[in-house]
Amino acid sequence: MSEILNTIMYRVSSPRLSAPAPEKQELDIFFRCAVRAPDHGRIRPWRFVVLQGRALEDLGAAFEAAQPEADEAQKLRLRAMPLRAPMIIVTIAKLDPEHKKVPVWEQQVAAGIATQHIQLAAKELGYGSMWRTGPMTESAPVKAFFDLQSGEQIVAFLYVGRVDGEPREADFQSLDEIVEYRD
Ligand SMILES: Cc1cc2nc3c(=O)[nH]c(=O)nc-3n(C[C@H](O)[C@H](O)[C@H](O)COP(=O)(O)O)c2cc1C
Repeated sequence: MSEILNTIMYRVSSPRLSAPAPEKQELDIFFRCAVRAPDHGRIRPWRFVVLQGRALEDLGAAFEAAQPEADEAQKLRLRAMPLRAPMIIVTIAKLDPEHKKVPVWEQQVAAGIATQHIQLAAKELGYGSMWRTGPMTESAPVKAFFDLQSGEQIVAFLYVGRVDGEPREADFQSLDEIVEYRD
């Protein structure tokens, strides 16, 4: 099978990731792949933020602030969440609800595809990743952390790093249940 089919078909998420994080040259490749996502109207409805080091701790503080009612144990867990990988690539969709031709859902899909291109490029360059979101994406402290403007929405916290341990085996749905052929 070709490399690209292999990369797509056997990609799995990796919850356990460790250093090293991708280097700048590799990140440039990720983002060149990202911006090749199909994008109705070529409106480029995305921006990306790369977090590592201290910035991951700062995001943990924003996660903690997002849940002021959390008890001490939960606060600790929230603060530690972003440290599950050496790098997080954040996709922020830039949505234009007034666009004449392209509804918001299509803009969101485009930003999602851009994220998936990064996931696949990461796999191709030997990195694992895991796409996460969660209720904190909608919280005021996290929105402020990313300086979200009106119409912007966090679509992904893509945790990236070297895979710890053996990757899970890819599983496949029964195609008969999900694909219908007509002619
Ligand atoms: C938009 C989006 C948000 C997601 N958010 C989470 C999340 O917050 N936590 C989580 O465990 N998985 C989340 N996932 C799912 C995982 O990234 C992953 O796809 C899922 O665990 C299936 O594993 P696989 O990719 O190996 O098939 C999300 C996926 C998408 C597309």
